[in-house]
Amino acid sequence: MRAALRVRYGGPEAISFGNVPEPVPSRGEILVRVAATTVNRTDCAYRSGRPWINRVVCGWPRPRVQVLGSEYAGVVVGLGEGVEAFAVGDRVFGFVDGRPGAHAELVTVPVNGLVAPVPGNWELADAAPGMEGAHYAHACLRVTNIGPGDRALVHGATGAIGTALVQLLHAEGVQVTAVCDRLPPGRPDLLTELGAAHVVQLRDAAGRTSFGSGFDAVFDATGHFSFAAARPLLRPGGSYSSSDLGRGGQNILLATAGPMARALGRRQVLFPLPQGNAALARHLGQLMDRGAYRPVVDRTFDFDELREAYTYVDAGRKVGNVVVTMPAAGRNLG
Ligand SMILES: NC(=O)c1ccc[n+]([C@@H]2O[C@H](COP(=O)([O-])OP(=O)(O)OC[C@H]3O[C@@H](n4cnc5c(N)ncnc54)[C@H](OP(=O)(O)O)[C@@H]3O)[C@@H](O)[C@H]2O)c1
Repeated sequence: MRAALRVRYGGPEAISFGNVPEPVPSRGEILVRVAATTVNRTDCAYRSGRPWINRVVCGWPRPRVQVLGSEYAGVVVGLGEGVEAFAVGDRVFGFVDGRPGAHAELVTVPVNGLVAPVPGNWELADAAPGMEGAHYAHACLRVTNIGPGDRALVHGATGAIGTALVQLLHAEGVQVTAVCDRLPPGRPDLLTELGAAHVVQLRDAAGRTSFGSGFDAVFDATGHFSFAAARPLLRPGGSYSSSDLGRGGQNILLATAGPMARALGRRQVLFPLPQGNAALARHLGQLMDRGAYRPVVDRTFDFDELREAYTYVDAGRKVGNVVVTMPAAGRNLG
């Protein structure tokens, strides 16, 4: 089968296309023919091996697994032993964290991981970006006790995680202030359409002073908005969490003081440990089905343009998600 490979860590130029043996589903796995995949920040980290922690997952000093890609939507074409949750022909979407392989015609995925049926009325290419950003967003949300009527600020609201977080918080009845550098040209209403009650553009002079304060939670979805910056915006007892480790891994260190801060009613750092499973995947699928969550798509590339897609995502300014369609999608999957 055709796949995108990287035999060494590096930039988009490290990607090559080649033929590799078709994967065979092990016990508890399904084989999926990929119709569409994405290029996301996880893929960029696995491709570049940066930060270094990614080499623990992908191999040291060279990548152990050469096929890239973590998010996909497609059709089940094979079942491993013991699989009852899916049947051949099912349309599925998901995210294979820690074991890339979705930038290929076929990928094997464990059924107890982040995989769920594609809602009936959804195109596969629209569902493909449904899991990665939402999975990390959900981890940030769950680590807090935030609930209906609370107020939250999302910094980096236009990214994959940010756009998912705004929607997931809104679906939980949280009042969201969404902060971005600038609203995407041509989509000035994007964040209000996703459910934000207030939108702040940092590029507006007024924007920098109109965050508000007294938030129950501040979420950083950029890796650039530190606890020190967020602290004045939180009410006493409020929490900060980030999808990123922070400079020097500070978010993990600060989170170790979380229980003491909580006991003292102080503002605290909470560090989310994303744990994807089939229950979360199905929950996200159900939110998509009832219109409460729709992954935002910025651009769509052909599989042959994968290097260009990586270059675009590396720039750090994508809006939501970047989708990549596989050549076979039109012919074999309808
Ligand atoms: N494995 C993991 O745990 C994991 C996985 C994925 C991501 N992450 C972390 O989560 C972050 C967000 O991921 P994502 O997938 O949502 O990324 P993304 O889609 O690329 O979005 C990045 C966001 O950051 C903003 N941004 C870019 N450069 C900035 C800067 N210098 N200062 C302030 N904001 C900036 C962008 O919006 P504007 O253009 O409006 O500023 C955008 O909203 C990543 O940067 C990464 O640190 C961690």
